[in-house]
Amino acid sequence: MRLTLHDLRRLAGERKLATLTCYDASFAALLDEAEVDMLLIGDSLGMVIQGHDSTLPVTVDDVAYHTRAVVRGAPRPWIVADMPFGSYQQSPQQALANAVTLMQAGAQMVKLEGGVEMAPTIEFLVQRGVPVCGHVGLTPQHVNAFGGYRIQGRGSGAQYVQQAADAVQSAGAAMLVIEAVPEPVAHAIAAQSRLLTIGIGASVHCHGQVLVLYDALGISAGKRPRFVRNFLAGSDSIGSALRNYVAEVRAGRFPAAENVYPQTP
Ligand code: KIV
Repeated sequence: MRLTLHDLRRLAGERKLATLTCYDASFAALLDEAEVDMLLIGDSLGMVIQGHDSTLPVTVDDVAYHTRAVVRGAPRPWIVADMPFGSYQQSPQQALANAVTLMQAGAQMVKLEGGVEMAPTIEFLVQRGVPVCGHVGLTPQHVNAFGGYRIQGRGSGAQYVQQAADAVQSAGAAMLVIEAVPEPVAHAIAAQSRLLTIGIGASVHCHGQVLVLYDALGISAGKRPRFVRNFLAGSDSIGSALRNYVAEVRAGRFPAAENVYPQTP
């Protein structure tokens, strides 16, 4: 039986929620066996599958294609599909049309990046039956605006991230990804939020954690970000690496101090 939002809220009261990105049916089946709670068909597929240097070229059809494959492979986890760059910023109506495509592909929830400026769109989707996950902090679709993949929320930026999280919550989202912000900022958001908070380079105090699957298996090229741990190192199979990730997240042992960012560099 596929997990529901109700199940996730109940489980979050008992332990941390383990999420990974996924793009195909074979990995989805292994992740299902590892009892991951959620799978995110992330627009990171533009980088790890398609070989682009950002997520910007990804289309709704790309995400829908990978969502269909993941859903076929994994009958149990909650399925979140990313809304790619340009598929929701134009208007709430544009966002709804594209969210419908992703939900018809099998997603149970869509994720979109942004805070105060996206609140009317989130509200529009939620009121029409689309569960929404927000995404604040380092939002990769803003890479050109940020001038690179930089930690967000240091100094006066902390207030900006907090306001973004508040706006996403007030708009009716059910979940929030917090990416690459200082640990105390993420901790404060998670502690006072009614949303299910999912951290990546954020805080162990979030309700759950997410990583890009390929990062968690050490198969991403280039410099490894601080928030990544290679779970394949020391494991004798991909299956056991994935089970190890789930166990470490559930127990609150990942992320460790070395995987989160201090307030000052
Ligand atoms: O696209 C993605 O994989 C993501 C996660 C890193 C949160 O947004």
